[in-house]
Amino acid sequence: MEQAAMELINVTKTIGKKKIIKGLSFEINKGEVFGFIGPNGAGKTTTIRMMVGLMKLTEGDVLIQGHSIKTDFQKAVREVGAIVENPEMYPFMTGLQNLKHYANMTPEITKERIDEVVALVGLEKVLKEKVGRYSLGMRQRLGIAQALLHHPSILILDEPTNGLDPAGIREIRQYIRRLASEENVAVIISSHLLSEIELMCDRIGIIKNGELISTQQIHGSDADKQLQQLELIATPIEKASKVLESELNIESLQIEESLTFQCERESIPNIARTLVAHDIAIYQIGRAKASLEDKFFDVIGENVIE
Ligand SMILES: Nc1ncnc2c1ncn2[C@@H]1O[C@H](COP(=O)(O)OP(=O)(O)O)[C@@H](O)[C@H]1O
Ligand SMILES: [Mg+2]
Repeated sequence: MEQAAMELINVTKTIGKKKIIKGLSFEINKGEVFGFIGPNGAGKTTTIRMMVGLMKLTEGDVLIQGHSIKTDFQKAVREVGAIVENPEMYPFMTGLQNLKHYANMTPEITKERIDEVVALVGLEKVLKEKVGRYSLGMRQRLGIAQALLHHPSILILDEPTNGLDPAGIREIRQYIRRLASEENVAVIISSHLLSEIELMCDRIGIIKNGELISTQQIHGSDADKQLQQLELIATPIEKASKVLESELNIESLQIEESLTFQCERESIPNIARTLVAHDIAIYQIGRAKASLEDKFFDVIGENVIE
């Protein structure tokens, strides 16, 4: 197994008498976008503060590229770029001035590197405007650019979609996917709304009351092999059910004019071909509602988000 980009080992935080983080253990792989999801107050920010060395661990350890945040702090934090809560920027300076200011405080950041990160987050056009005039989305992207300047191997973003409109979220998503592949960084991105980050993550971990409740592959090669719950709307529906069973050995459940069944993602094209070959008219085929969102509510509880 390749070494994980980051490994949490029994990470625990007690403040006063209250156990806020209760023995979290999980890994983030190289080049992976990992969604860290949980309702407000679940402990995402506290965990992230420990991951980046802003807060001491009560118990456990965090290994970053194998370096312990406790015993090898300098080497560990060298690997991390992060925005915790809000990116700190000077509104009266331009985007470029902000990046230069930061670069001056950090050794070995070249002019070329500044250009590179600016291109990565698509801010070339507004670089000479004052940050005070930036939209929230632009400020987030400038924050990401700044966090990437020193070539970290892990980028950690705490609720970067908070307060963004759908267009802003879509932009962040595109840039995150792109830099995961182009810079080969592992990205940890937290959110209290699954729907906002689902599309940019390869894997998610769900945290509630300081405990990790589940981790799940949602995109990437492994996800293709995972069983999915699909819903099919077609006519005649009874015949569709029979064809699924006799030709493909898939059992389905009929609810009114639709069928739900489980299959691997990669077998969907063949299912569609087979149905069509048997003169069945397909009106819709897609993921059934019992998907990630439901799973999320199952483990989190319906009323605790927000
Ligand atoms: N410095 C602190 N002192 C006491 N309690 C804290 C402190 N920081 C966070 N908490 C508590 O820890 C829990 C987790 O908070 P936080 O990590 O901010 O959650 P999230 O980022 O998931 O919304 C909350 O119940 C919060 O009230
Ligand atoms: Mg938080």
